[in-house]
Amino acid sequence: MTSPADDERDLISLLDFHIESGADAALDERPHDRFGEAEEPPPERSAAAPTRVQPEPARAPARAAPPRTFGQSAAAKPDEAAGDARARAGETRTLEELEALLAGFDGCPLKFTAKNLVFADGNPAARVMFVGEAPGADEDRVGKPFMGRSGQLLDRMMAAIGLDRSSAYIANIVPWRPPGNRNPTPQEVSVCKPFIERQIELADPDLIVCLGSPATQTLTGTKDGILKARGRFYPYRLGDREVRALATLHPAYLLRQPVQKRLAWRDFRLLRAALDGKA
Ligand code: URA
Repeated sequence: MTSPADDERDLISLLDFHIESGADAALDERPHDRFGEAEEPPPERSAAAPTRVQPEPARAPARAAPPRTFGQSAAAKPDEAAGDARARAGETRTLEELEALLAGFDGCPLKFTAKNLVFADGNPAARVMFVGEAPGADEDRVGKPFMGRSGQLLDRMMAAIGLDRSSAYIANIVPWRPPGNRNPTPQEVSVCKPFIERQIELADPDLIVCLGSPATQTLTGTKDGILKARGRFYPYRLGDREVRALATLHPAYLLRQPVQKRLAWRDFRLLRAALDGKA
């Protein structure tokens, strides 16, 4: 027979296992078998059982429909949510309005597992804007991008070319942390894309730096992997002017592959030259 202490230990080690596997957020009190649900046949009327006419229950008094939250249908229809997001984002006139709009957007399921919206950090009037992929645990806790180890490395890389968070603006493609730091899905990226595009439009930088492959592919449309795409400038349309987007390696990748920092250093020197009008 197991003791309550054994049960507790078992439960804790099961929870540890879930967390290590990336399932670090509780979505409901009860488990759901989604596969089972999908395959469940519609209830059939048994031929043998006589169908009894049920007395109609007394109708509940008609209630006003709850107000429709913006983007609510996204989990079921990401395309609709992305269209909705694009139309509404296009109506915002300031970054503050855009942030408030995002805070009220229910179309990306990541919002419901994240602690905070991670909108931006740095100076929105800066000439250069860095765009990463998605917040991690540190960013989720603080509510600002690039707060953890990748952020410290990004700060050092920026410092090496004379930039800091007062001379750069920083955001992510997806502004909510994917649970367990998994990569955002293509649907999550496409639902959030109109917001980062509007954020770039409103910040109106002269240069964009795409950190890593998801930011590069999302903003430039290239299908090339980051090792091929890095070190190149891509045209980026901002209203009636064209600016440039530089692809480079993500700091998290550089933490795993420090030998590649030499490539990032080349890219950052290119960025400095571009800012100085020499590239
Ligand atoms: N990685 C990102 O892409 N963005 C962050 O904000 C932090 C880590």
